Amino acid sequence: MTVPTPLLLGAALAVALSAAPQGPARAQSATAPQIALPCAGCHGPNGAGEGPVPRIAGYDRQAFLQTWSAFRANERPATIMNRIARGYTDAEVGQLADYFATLR
Ligand code: HEC
Repeated sequence: MTVPTPLLLGAALAVALSAAPQGPARAQSATAPQIALPCAGCHGPNGAGEGPVPRIAGYDRQAFLQTWSAFRANERPATIMNRIARGYTDAEVGQLADYFATLR
């Protein structure tokens, strides 16, 4: 007995779909500039700093990661960053660290 091709294709598609990452519709492949977009609202374009909000362009990568986990853990004085820091995955924080380190 031969299986009709459309059935085979359907089965292959079902396997492919079930192998896709589950979870919210958040794009897995957002680029760093996309992830960093909301930061500009306070830190200015390209993290240049704006008013009392500190400049983060050129922030050292290691320092960024340390600062971020300190915000997350409430170990660094913050008015808002302690809450913002919890909204990003570790992978995204890595992307942000790379990105801001390269900005001048
Ligand atoms: C609602 C305004 C706001 C947004 C949005 C925001 N920040 Fe901040 N950020 C601040 C403020 C204000 C501080 C100073 C610490 C505090 O008061 O929370 C700060 C501090 C920081 C610091 C520490 C700077 C230093 O002095 O060492 C880093 C790093 C940082 N922000 C990164 C980011 C990144 C990356 C994003 C985007 C994912 C972001 N911030 C989004 C307001 C903001």
